[in-house]
Amino acid sequence: MFEFSIQATAGRARVASFTTPRGQVTTPMFMPVGTQGTVKGISPDELHAVGSQMILGNTYHLMLRPGEAMVAAHGGLPGFTAYPGPFLTDSGGFQVMSLGHMRRITEEGVVFKSHLDGSLINLTPERSIQVQEALGADIIMAFDECPPYPATTEYVKASLERTVRWLERCLNVKSRDDQALFPIIQGGTDETLRALSLELTLPVNPHGFAIGGLAVGEPKTEMFPAVAFSTSGLPENKPRYLMGVGHPEDLLAGIALGVDMFDCVYPTRTGRFGYALTDQGRINMNSSAPRTQLQPIDESCDCYACRHYTRAYLAHLVRAEEMLGPRMLSLHNLRYLHRLTERARDAISNGTFHSWARAWADVYFKNGV
Ligand code: GUN
Ligand code: ZN
Repeated sequence: MFEFSIQATAGRARVASFTTPRGQVTTPMFMPVGTQGTVKGISPDELHAVGSQMILGNTYHLMLRPGEAMVAAHGGLPGFTAYPGPFLTDSGGFQVMSLGHMRRITEEGVVFKSHLDGSLINLTPERSIQVQEALGADIIMAFDECPPYPATTEYVKASLERTVRWLERCLNVKSRDDQALFPIIQGGTDETLRALSLELTLPVNPHGFAIGGLAVGEPKTEMFPAVAFSTSGLPENKPRYLMGVGHPEDLLAGIALGVDMFDCVYPTRTGRFGYALTDQGRINMNSSAPRTQLQPIDESCDCYACRHYTRAYLAHLVRAEEMLGPRMLSLHNLRYLHRLTERARDAISNGTFHSWARAWADVYFKNGV
């Protein structure tokens, strides 16, 4: 039911096809974030049109509202959201830490106050798996703890060891074999701790691995060595998912280091804030220049916004606070990231990946993005 087959490599970068119960995807890929069961402002038809292959959903948000039983009553996320393709759900621990109030972590799990109504919620490895089975994604994540940055070595070590014990509890209660459970490698930016997390997690022999605990405020000069160390310790023949990473330059660096899957709110969030991604950098549609520009955001983009609208029109929508503005910028930005991974896959396949990525970065950073 889950098969990962590498088709081409360039150094550590790889192109692969990943078969899941709801369809085959091609990696490296970027997954749009649909926290509340919707990629904000974008319909399933539009996701299909921009080339999305797998959508991310969140245990934390959906268990609080509308509750996993209501999602299950629709046959899971595909029925609930009317998006028929593959889904991945995150396990909730990470979101509790960023959104829950009065959190308390114990060996048992995390107790927190709902950000919606203040009610007291207990999230454990067992409960996370129960919710993720009800949500019905193709790929589910182990319940982990992502320590804040910075944190002491002692804390990060204790936390990753607890994450390994929580992984065992997740595996013990998991009952569906049509869902792949990815463990999450933790250990912060410390190589010794990453090595320990890898050593304790590899024997589980899952269908794929996530690399967590990064992009939480550490400098990029610490993040990428930790990514490189993590991917080099993982088996070649399993997909690798770098959680929460998704700026264009970070996708290319991650791909070069052997990462296969990414997710980030960046394209949709920056779109809602009025920014459009291009090879030449990010265009601020709130600035004055686009207001009189009669060309599309990006001549080379095939998204609906670029095929129909001028920058001047889109800048007008943003200024007038018309909802089509953020919607079209989100749509374009998703297409941009999907096209960037398509171009990376093509370049890996035809042996030009490293020169192509360097040339891309030369242009992208010229304007000081
Ligand atoms: N999203 C981004 N980073 C993480 C992480 O370390 N753990 C989980 N569960 N989700 C994440
Ligand atoms: Zn476009």
